[in-house]
Amino acid sequence: MTAPGGDARQGRAVAAPAWSAADRAGLPRPLTVRAVADENHRTRTLTLDAAVDAVAGQFGMLWLPGLDEKPFSLRAADPLAFTVAAVGPFSRAVHRLRPGDRIWFRGPFGRGFTLAGVDHLMVGGGYGTAPLHFLAADAARRGDRVRVVIGARTSADLLMADAFRDLGAEVIQTTEDGSAGTRGRVTTAVGPLLAAADRPDTLYACGPHGMLAALEDQARAAGVPCQSAWEAYMRCGIGICGSCEHGGMLLCADGPVLAGGA
Ligand SMILES: Cc1cc2nc3c(=O)[nH]c(=O)nc-3n(C[C@H](O)[C@H](O)[C@H](O)COP(=O)(O)OP(=O)(O)OC[C@H]3O[C@@H](n4cnc5c(N)ncnc54)[C@H](O)[C@@H]3O)c2cc1C
Ligand code: FES
Repeated sequence: MTAPGGDARQGRAVAAPAWSAADRAGLPRPLTVRAVADENHRTRTLTLDAAVDAVAGQFGMLWLPGLDEKPFSLRAADPLAFTVAAVGPFSRAVHRLRPGDRIWFRGPFGRGFTLAGVDHLMVGGGYGTAPLHFLAADAARRGDRVRVVIGARTSADLLMADAFRDLGAEVIQTTEDGSAGTRGRVTTAVGPLLAAADRPDTLYACGPHGMLAALEDQARAAGVPCQSAWEAYMRCGIGICGSCEHGGMLLCADGPVLAGGA
């Protein structure tokens, strides 16, 4: 795996407030929650009162004083938004925030996705679907073709299908129990798409490590370039502490998006 070509941090310009270099590397900035929206029974999107210069796949560190600071992928940059699954103490505390409450943010950090070609296949598992919606919105603005495979255990765990359709994307859903879409894992749906005559130019993936590894194998076998967003335990977020080492790279700085496949 390598970092994708080019510097994905050179993103599009967005509206004020200005985000200085000092903000990126410096102290957390207090932001206000503007809106909270439920995505499914345990996943919620928080929109904050800021805009940042960022690309899809980059992450920010969210801090609740006295509790913890954790990394989250950007769902959107303008306005800044995060999609959070309630799985433990920190994410449940984020779910308790209401409009008007404050949360602290550092970032955006890391290397994100780089749109390559004009026909894109995006594959999301769990909350990994959120940064792909950010990417799909950028691709839709370019007028590119976007296909999305969204995978979950059950129909109740699926995320954002309508939001992708609103962008004009073709949506395929898979569930392990067959309660919606194709029964099986995302790889079940991805195989035929990679083998078809109109196979995508690039595959982009975000989700559990096992899913990413399987998709990279499929992409490599099909000769399709692949970009995957990997997770690791992160503390500093800026390449200093070494806690996010993965395959000889620091995922917070060299990733989290790494190139694989062809
Ligand atoms: C680069 C990066 C981007 C991330 N982006 C997002 C994001 O966009 N949205 C998001 O919700 N989280 C994201 N995370 C994960 C996030 O940082 C936290 O790890 C997560 O919110 C759990 O923290 P916690 O303190 O609430 O629970 P923890 O105490 O860390 O975990 C509680 C329990 O839940 C388990 N667990 C952790 N994650 C999951 C999961 N997804 N499903 C089921 N069980 C789980 C743990 O193994 C543990 O047993 C990202 C992580 C990284 C490194
Ligand atoms: S989180 Fe500290 S080096 Fe990556």
